[in-house]
Amino acid sequence: MKGIILSGGHGTRLRPLTNVTSKQLLPVYNKPMIFYPLETLLKAGIKEIMIIVAPDHCGDYMRVLGSGRDFGAGVRFTYEIQDEPKGIAQSFLIAENFLDDGDNATLILGDNIFEHDFTNDIQNFKSGGLVFAREVEDPERFGVLEFDQNGKVISVEEKPKVPKSNFAQVGIYVFDGRVLEAAKSVTPSARGELEITDVADWYLKKGELVAKPIQGFWADAGTLETLHRASVWARERANLS
Ligand code: TTP
Repeated sequence: MKGIILSGGHGTRLRPLTNVTSKQLLPVYNKPMIFYPLETLLKAGIKEIMIIVAPDHCGDYMRVLGSGRDFGAGVRFTYEIQDEPKGIAQSFLIAENFLDDGDNATLILGDNIFEHDFTNDIQNFKSGGLVFAREVEDPERFGVLEFDQNGKVISVEEKPKVPKSNFAQVGIYVFDGRVLEAAKSVTPSARGELEITDVADWYLKKGELVAKPIQGFWADAGTLETLHRASVWARERANLS
């Protein structure tokens, strides 16, 4: 299993904090934000990790994270640049050489902070697509998953005006070696992005998409409010351990 952290984007909702640095390098209590998704991957046993960043901040990421050596035996980071934020699914195209041995891949967004432990799901993953769901009050801001009575996914839609459920697809996705083929089949949406929901839909149409619920704290720390909430949670957690 390989890991990809997508850590580009504009971070417009966090201006002026993001005028001089990348959103995912901002502090969440005592660590840069990206440490949290990185630790999620490392905890699940993933050691080969590609970090995709915006052109302006590449040097800062390398200074903060280095080669991977400081994060454990056998941990290795590779860096790539996303010239323009053209969508989450573009990650797989940028990572084409990294993924060309057909390995499974877990993609996590650099601003998603999870308490949930994904170790079992990631280590036991065999094939298809695996996404994760969380009930939210504002599903229209997210990719929305619809389930049948047996908990099987029946649709996945990006930021629908009329959501079919309250279940948001959160920012971690596990796909098998066909993910490059899936990402290559995606065309830009109305907002000009390659949508991750379309990659999930590629697997859904083959009957190979599974969605599982997550437990515990979760934040997409991309707004002032959620960044603050994440810091409060991280402080409580650090003081408990
Ligand atoms: P967003 O929070 O949707 O976008 P953003 O980070 O540019 O922020 P804003 O809306 O405030 O301008 O992106 C979610 C995460 O995915 C975030 O960690 C950035 C990352 N991302 C990329 O790195 N490249 C992309 O093309 C997209 C769409 C997102």
